[in-house]
Amino acid sequence: MDADLVKREFMAVFDELVAQLDAELASSFDVPPPAQAYIHKIMTYNVPHGKLTRGLAVLQCYKSFCGHAHELSAEETRQANMLGWCVEWLQACFLVADDIMDGSHTRRGQACYYKLPEIGLKAVNDSLILEAMIFRILKANFRSHRAYVELTELFREITFITEVGQLLDLTSQQEPGHVDLTAFTSDTLYRIYRYKTAYYSFYLSVALGMRLANVEDPQLYKHAERVCLAIGEYFQAQDDYLDCFGEPELIGKVGTDIEENKCTWLVVTALHECNASAEDRALLEANYGRNDKECVARVKEMYGKLGIPDAFQAYEQKSYDSIRAMIAELEGVMPTGAFEFLLQKVYKRSK
Ligand code: FPP
Ligand code: MG
Repeated sequence: MDADLVKREFMAVFDELVAQLDAELASSFDVPPPAQAYIHKIMTYNVPHGKLTRGLAVLQCYKSFCGHAHELSAEETRQANMLGWCVEWLQACFLVADDIMDGSHTRRGQACYYKLPEIGLKAVNDSLILEAMIFRILKANFRSHRAYVELTELFREITFITEVGQLLDLTSQQEPGHVDLTAFTSDTLYRIYRYKTAYYSFYLSVALGMRLANVEDPQLYKHAERVCLAIGEYFQAQDDYLDCFGEPELIGKVGTDIEENKCTWLVVTALHECNASAEDRALLEANYGRNDKECVARVKEMYGKLGIPDAFQAYEQKSYDSIRAMIAELEGVMPTGAFEFLLQKVYKRSK
């Protein structure tokens, strides 16, 4: 089926879920119309404007596990897409909170939600409302599905993992405001990647598709986890690269990682793989983690001098080849369509 039609079907399910949540609020809660409109906007501003890769992946995964024995019915497609939207709801809840914590300005080509004058720190509560809605969607639509408990547990478990990842990200420097480059190691980096990004961005969608298809063999979930974590690490390294070298118009956000003293692929590679001299390190230490445009420019210049863009291209190719090899090993063991879909979506992305 062509990609436009798949996306249109997916968007139609978003409208349906928003209508469902709006109707439930109006009929079962004593909430006046302005609050109903406020909650409607929490959803429409924050949930549907991303690339939708995570959301669309659930249907792809479900299809590949159902095999080609039958075309999916409209109802089966709708169910997979509802779970896909739950992943997008989770992503929205994370991003609303993350943008406050990271002091970001723009997201998905529009102002960060908390930056809207009428919102501010109410965004904290709104992020939690988005999270709670996931469980309302699941209850309203999957209560009698045989995998209801597993579907619900997946969201609970992956949310916790991501929250731990966010904590690791935010505490990768021991003291706020203090720059200690020795804390930036590749062990720390890849742990943050797995926890804060890979589980919710890749494994969650695949595992949901598998659950919906009633896959029960734990070994198959382990295989899926291994491949998804590898794709997730690669994806977050790209996120770090684009934060510094991407086009803000394309990525829909302005990077803040250098100012925010973040443990990123760029700083770890600069320190450990590019033969940085003692002076190069001193320059990085003096300019990293400061909210000052000139300091940020000096760090970027040093990344250029150390050959970070070339190192990234080499890393990108190496990651792609090794993930392809992992997928090839699973041929005949389990369907690999979802992994192929995700890898093609992220390979050499510029947004
Ligand atoms: C973005 O990473 C980080 C995440 C999407 C994870 C955030 C997780 C939380 C905020 C946990 C909060 C949980 C609840 C339930 C409110 P990034 O900052 O590297 O990405 P970016 O470049 O897109 O900002
Ligand atoms: Mg952020």
